[in-house]
Amino acid sequence: MFKEKEGSYSGIPKFAPRKKVGMLLLCAVSLAVFLWVLFVDKDAQELDPSISNRLFPPEAGQKDNSTNIESVERTNVGQSASTVQPLLLPSPPPPPRPVYFKGYTLPPGNPCEGFTLPPPPADKKRTGPRPCPVCYLPVEQAIALMPDAPSFSPGVSNLTYIHEENSGKPEFGGYPSLMQRNDSYDIRESMSVHCGFVKGIGPGHQTDFDIDDSDIHEMESCRGVVVASAIFGAFDLIRQPKNMSEHAKKTVCFHMFVDEQTEVFLRNSSELDGTMRIGLWRIVIVHNLPYDDPRRNGKVPKLLLHRLFPSARYSLWIDAKLELVVDPYQILERFLWRKNASFAISRHYKRFDVFVEAEANKVAGKFDNASIDFQVEFYKKEGLTPYSAAKLPITSDVPEGCVVVREHIPISNLFACLWFNEVDRFTPRDQISFAIVRDKIMSKTNWTVNMFLDCERRNFVVQGYHRDILEHWPPPPPPLPPLKLFILNPL
Ligand SMILES: *[C@@H]1O[C@H](CO)[C@@H](O)[C@H](O)[C@H]1NC(C)=O
Ligand SMILES: *[C@@H]1O[C@H](CO)[C@@H](O)[C@H](O)[C@H]1NC(C)=O
Ligand SMILES: *[C@@H]1O[C@H](CO)[C@@H](O)[C@H](O)[C@H]1NC(C)=O
Ligand SMILES: *[C@@H]1O[C@H](CO)[C@@H](O)[C@H](O)[C@H]1NC(C)=O
Ligand SMILES: *[C@@H]1O[C@H](CO)[C@@H](O)[C@H](O)[C@H]1NC(C)=O
Ligand SMILES: *[C@@H]1O[C@H](CO)[C@@H](O)[C@H](O)[C@H]1NC(C)=O
Ligand SMILES: *[C@@H]1O[C@H](CO)[C@@H](O)[C@H](O)[C@H]1NC(C)=O
Ligand SMILES: *[C@@H]1O[C@H](CO)[C@@H](O)[C@H](O)[C@H]1NC(C)=O
Repeated sequence: MFKEKEGSYSGIPKFAPRKKVGMLLLCAVSLAVFLWVLFVDKDAQELDPSISNRLFPPEAGQKDNSTNIESVERTNVGQSASTVQPLLLPSPPPPPRPVYFKGYTLPPGNPCEGFTLPPPPADKKRTGPRPCPVCYLPVEQAIALMPDAPSFSPGVSNLTYIHEENSGKPEFGGYPSLMQRNDSYDIRESMSVHCGFVKGIGPGHQTDFDIDDSDIHEMESCRGVVVASAIFGAFDLIRQPKNMSEHAKKTVCFHMFVDEQTEVFLRNSSELDGTMRIGLWRIVIVHNLPYDDPRRNGKVPKLLLHRLFPSARYSLWIDAKLELVVDPYQILERFLWRKNASFAISRHYKRFDVFVEAEANKVAGKFDNASIDFQVEFYKKEGLTPYSAAKLPITSDVPEGCVVVREHIPISNLFACLWFNEVDRFTPRDQISFAIVRDKIMSKTNWTVNMFLDCERRNFVVQGYHRDILEHWPPPPPPLPPLKLFILNPL
């Protein structure tokens, strides 16, 4: 881009006599100064006090320190370039400069600032994973801190998705070749990648994973925060989110994807009527599931929410076995905005090495051994190494993926697409493919994933039991570690 400008600048003297060039430069300089004043002034006005005062009013004991909140400080990548621009292209005013969320720090004295987890209290009876305290801001403050601009997307700014015409028999994920796969990890400003829904008209529209037009319309018009989950095979009960603020109830799109089998079950148990709502959830029926394996089908809404909700800014995925008990705005504030992150996921409570995780998957019979071995060998050849402290600040290679918190910006969308493509190509065990995708992207950009503690995740989602367990063991069984739950899972 800069090169182009240089070109047009050096081109001027060829066509204009010197005096005119002088005049032109003079005009350009004054225009530049004018524009600079205009923009800097505008920035200054937009800058701080309003929101921070709204959030942390002086009477709340913060006084001037509240200006430490920088949430409204807009960055402008390439500011120096655009102040030069008028010099080079005097006639058209520069296009509006992109504005990005720049992050913020909590004011000193805020109870959540410097909050450290107290060690979980000793309890000999319960040695399994447990929740730990998380310092959320009060819900009104979290809501007010919602950034009014997206985060900067390093490496890629224009992400488009490959659509394959119905030549032959394109499947849901398409058939990205190994070369296309390799190419998709070569992060560039403008990229086109496979990301499911490769055939048909648009996501959910004759692509398999088909959704009624009225639902698609509703999903496309969701512009803020999405909370989504899915039940395929009538395997789970619907769990209502608890403790939601009135604002969340009004503004957050709660969508539960179910297949036809689950629909029949819900209608028969008279939970579902013509309103297609159960409590806060809007129930979305999915037809023509793309895969035979329900675990793969579940990855479609889990990883491709940015395709199903193309206008949404933030999404929270929760597995159906989980009950959400904290307001989504508080979760987004705590794990994304305050951390300046666009993708957050918890790490597994005790495993952090892909090789160890793969072995545990084999022992637990999660997928056939040969496919797991093939995938791990493939990654090893690509450079995946066992986890060690040398990878710090990366704290784990193994996520507990039952919750995904993200902002929909090109780089986090790309990560989700490429992760989905691994699940499509190899086994559906997404905890095996997470690290290789993350590390390949991180080798090209300074983008990172916020991996938080499993005990923090357990603070905002409470694990329930799958339906078969609930129905066959009428008195609630003693808490089981999640692994055992999965062994009982007939899928
Ligand atoms: C921040 O607050 C402390 C006391 O709470 C005060 O001493 C200090 O001057 C304040 N800083 C600013 C920049 O107002
Ligand atoms: C947040 O990240 C952006 C780049 O994405 C950076 O410019 C900014 O300084 C960061 N803010 C904080 C508070 O770390
Ligand atoms: C990340 O890289 C981008 C350029 O790709 C740069 O503008 C930004 O300042 C970097 N952020 C940090 C935190 O290093
Ligand atoms: C984004 O990429 C697509 C496909 O590569 C291209 O057609 C489009 O012009 C690009 N848009 C911008 C704004 O660069
Ligand atoms: C993969 O892509 C990289 C560029 O990102 C290139 O240097 C490399 O040669 C490619 N490898 C293969 C096997 O295509
Ligand atoms: C509907 O529920 C009744 C009991 O309430 C049960 O006997 C019947 O098998 C159910 N039908 C279907 C299709 O699930
Ligand atoms: C709702 O929030 C309150 C306070 O944050 C908490 O004590 C309570 O356990 C929560 N409700 C549920 C169902 O978790
Ligand atoms: C798969 O591998 C695990 C551990 O390596 C082993 O315990 C299990 O018996 C194997 N399963 C089959 C079907 O061979």
